[in-house]
Amino acid sequence: MQVNGKNYHTIWVHPDNSKIIKVIDQRKLPFEFQIVDLKSSSDTFKAIQNMTVRGAPLIGVTGAYGIYLGLVNSDENTWRKNLTQNAEYLKSARPTAVNLALLIDEMLTKLVNCISLEQACNISLHEATRMKEREIKWSEAIGEYGCELIEAISKNKNGAPVNILTHCNAGWLACIDWGTATAPVYKAFHKGIPVHVWVDETRPRNQGARLTAWELAQEGVPHTIIPDNAGGHLMQHGLVDLCIVGSDRTTSTGDVANKIGTYLKALAAFDNRVPFYAALPSSSIDFTMKDGVNEIPIEQRDSEEVSHMEGELAGGQIAKMRIINPLSPVANYGFDVTPARFVTALITERGICKANPADIQKLFPER
Ligand code: MRU
Repeated sequence: MQVNGKNYHTIWVHPDNSKIIKVIDQRKLPFEFQIVDLKSSSDTFKAIQNMTVRGAPLIGVTGAYGIYLGLVNSDENTWRKNLTQNAEYLKSARPTAVNLALLIDEMLTKLVNCISLEQACNISLHEATRMKEREIKWSEAIGEYGCELIEAISKNKNGAPVNILTHCNAGWLACIDWGTATAPVYKAFHKGIPVHVWVDETRPRNQGARLTAWELAQEGVPHTIIPDNAGGHLMQHGLVDLCIVGSDRTTSTGDVANKIGTYLKALAAFDNRVPFYAALPSSSIDFTMKDGVNEIPIEQRDSEEVSHMEGELAGGQIAKMRIINPLSPVANYGFDVTPARFVTALITERGICKANPADIQKLFPER
């Protein structure tokens, strides 16, 4: 999607040096647009863990490139042993988004029959890039299916914008291009359907206020940032036509793990009969899990994400400051699980299905 009028993906291979993977540093947005180089598996691990790159589909693809970078930095005697260790190391960078483990495991299966380091490097680079392209296609397909939902609502609104509420950043920054929750919005907007997005700020890291709003502004999509607590009030007053969120892990039964606070939005939507959709590629579905609340590992992050906030001072300097008293303890759960009964439907690359085992199975019979 667009950054200052130029098209970008969130991750790409350096055009002159295939041993370097380039990514957008999402920690700096919206204040600075910076690109950083990943040259090793430890660079990759750190980038995922410190959220230079973030969002379920993007960390999956970054993990796949991390396997490649691990091989590039190995030698003929050690690469096989390093490969297995590196896979476990990269998977441990973040626990909730299943994409990371799934894509790394997929990569390992492609490398099983390799007979030399050179072959393993070539195959892993090819596979990581294939996974990247696949995510783009899947996001775009999610966009097409989700756009139909927005278009149907628009027909009853006499030209008034369709109001979509979203949480966190399930935009192109969280993926490679298009996004998951935002893909239907971009598709509808490009089709000339009037849309307006309510952007939850998404404390503590403010991915909505910092990233989703920035993306939408770059594309020219009308939007408004709201505090996380505002969604219920807006729904009670008919100001939200539908909610679309992303997912970091969806069970085979349709329970949806997403950024902390998603569940409360789903409850408010349920109470107000506002349709609540989760948009996700199959790389975010964990077919081994049935009970999201009890089985999905929920990441707990550094307390500083809650106790401090970062912003731009009047002179343009970026500063971080403490916003609470230093004596109070903090809890920082990164994700919550919305049980399937509160999810109207899932928007996937294969179509829209009800959040229940039978309908998910129909879309993905091979799984
Ligand atoms: O902690 P983050 O910023 O990686 O969390 C991201 C989200 O929760 C997204 O909504 C999620 O990955 C959906 S994917 C496009």
